[in-house]
Amino acid sequence: MEETWASFPTKLSYIAITFAYLLQHMAFDLVFFGGTGDLTWRKLMPALFQAFRHGKLPEGGRILAVARDEQSDEKYREWLKERFQEVDTSKRPSDEAFARFAELVHYRRMDLSQPEHYARLKEWLAERNADTVVLYLATSPHLFPQICQQLGVAGLNGPNIRIVLEKPLGHDLESAQEINRVVRSVFSERQAFRIDHYLGKPSVQNLMALRFGNALFEPLWRRECIANIQITLAEAIGVGTRGDFYDRTGALRDMIQNHALQLLTMIAMEPPSTHDADAIRDEKLKVLRSLKPFTEESVHRDVVRGQYRNGNVDGQAVAGYLDEAKVPAGSTTETFVALRTEVQNWRWAGVPFYLRTGKRLAARDAQIVVNFRPVPHPIFPGTSRANKLVIKLQPEDGLELHLLAAKGTSQSELLSPVQLDLDFDKAFPHERVGAYERLLLDAIAGRLNLFVRSDEQEQAWRWVEPVLEVWARDSTGPRPYASGSWGPPASSALVARDDNAWDEEQ
Ligand code: BG6
Repeated sequence: MEETWASFPTKLSYIAITFAYLLQHMAFDLVFFGGTGDLTWRKLMPALFQAFRHGKLPEGGRILAVARDEQSDEKYREWLKERFQEVDTSKRPSDEAFARFAELVHYRRMDLSQPEHYARLKEWLAERNADTVVLYLATSPHLFPQICQQLGVAGLNGPNIRIVLEKPLGHDLESAQEINRVVRSVFSERQAFRIDHYLGKPSVQNLMALRFGNALFEPLWRRECIANIQITLAEAIGVGTRGDFYDRTGALRDMIQNHALQLLTMIAMEPPSTHDADAIRDEKLKVLRSLKPFTEESVHRDVVRGQYRNGNVDGQAVAGYLDEAKVPAGSTTETFVALRTEVQNWRWAGVPFYLRTGKRLAARDAQIVVNFRPVPHPIFPGTSRANKLVIKLQPEDGLELHLLAAKGTSQSELLSPVQLDLDFDKAFPHERVGAYERLLLDAIAGRLNLFVRSDEQEQAWRWVEPVLEVWARDSTGPRPYASGSWGPPASSALVARDDNAWDEEQ
C-alpha cells in the first residue's frame, strides 16, 4: 500500500500504544536505599501506592527497600502499613488494597559501607533479572558518592540500571561537582535521574503545554509585552522536626537553587526544537547561563534574607525559628529569601524576575505571576492594572487570566478587574497524578524530560554561590519577620524600587 502522510498520525498512535503496552508489562525492580527513612514512607511509598491504585505501575514490578535494620518482609510491610496512617487521608489504602500493594514490597538489611552487601544486592537482583532496575538514593546526600562507588565496584551500573538522586545535591558548587564526578565515573548521564520534585507537579508540565502547545502567548512572551515576572513559593509550615537539617541548609539552598530556578527556566526558556529531554535541558541551561551574576553590591541591593519570629498562622500561635527543636541558639540561617534578577538575553533584557520563598508565611501559595505591560495609551479613566496571567501551582492547580472589563453602566465608569479561571483539577478530575508518582513512573520508563541534568544543577549553584559568600561575611544576619506575614518589609521595598508590587499587595 502506498505510504501517505494521512496514515502518519495513525502510525504514531500505533507506536504510542505499543510503547504504552510494553511499559505496562515491563518487569522492573525499584530499590529504595534509605528504605526506613522519612522520604521513603512519607513521599515515595504513598506515590507508588497511588500509581498502583491508578493501574499505572507496570505489572511485574518489585519494590525493594534496603536499610540498616534487620527485619523480615512481613515486619517491614507492617511497619509501612502503620506509617501509611500518617499520610494524607486521600492517599491511605484500605486493608485490602494495602495487602495487594504489599505483595510487591520486599525488604533486606544492607550496610552501605560494606562491599559484600552490594554483592548480595546484586545476587538479589539477578534472581529476577528485570528489564529495568531503578536504584533510588533516598539517603542522606553525604552517602551518595560512597554508594555510587560501591555500586560501580559491584558492577551494578549496567545499561538496564538507572540511578535516582534526591535533593539536596550538594551544599555548594564544589560538593555538587564532587557528587557529579563520582556519579559520572560509574554511570552515564542518561542513567542519572536527578529529582527536583517541582518538575513533577502537573502545573509545571502545564506551563510547558501553555507555552509550547499553544500559539496564543508566544508573541507576547517577551520584554516588549511583559513588565515583570514573580515566582512565589510560600509555605505556611515551619521547619518542624527538620531543624538540624534546615539550619545547615537555609531557604536559598533548600528552595531557590533548585525549585525556584527550575520554574524560572521553564518560564524563560526558548522553545525547544523537540520534546526530547536534552533539547529541553539545553534550553533551560541557556537560561541559567544568562542570569545576571551577583556581585557584592547587588547581593546587598537585590537579595533580602529573613528569619521567622513567633506569630500567628491560620489563627494558631506559632513559635519563632530560634525556638524550634534542634535549631542552635543565635542561628543566622535564613528561612525567607526574596531576590530580583534578570535574564540577560534579547527576549528578556531589562525585565525584572522576582523570586521569593519562605516558611511560616501567610499562606501556602505557590504561583508564577506574569505581569503584562499596561496599554501604551490609556483612553479609559482611572489607572489600569489587571493584565496578568497567574500560573497557580498549589494549593490549586490552574491558570487565571486577569483582564479589565467594562460593566457597561455609564460612559465614565472605571474598568473593573475580571478573570478567566481554568482549574485543572476540575478539567481533568480523574487523570491527575502527584509529583512523585509522575517522576517515579518516568524513572521506571526511562524518560528524562523532568529530571535535572548535571550541568544545569552546577550552573544553578554557580549562580547562587556569590550570595552565600556575601552572607557568610556579613554579620548583620537575616531580617526578622512575624510568622503569618509575607516576610520582612524589605521584600516589598525590593519590588517597590522598580515601581512594582508583589501580587498580594497589588
Ligand atoms: C522540599 C524542601 O524540597 O520542598 C522543603 O526541602 C519544602 O523544605 C518542600 O517544604 C516544599 O515542597 P511542596 O511540594 O510541599 O511545595
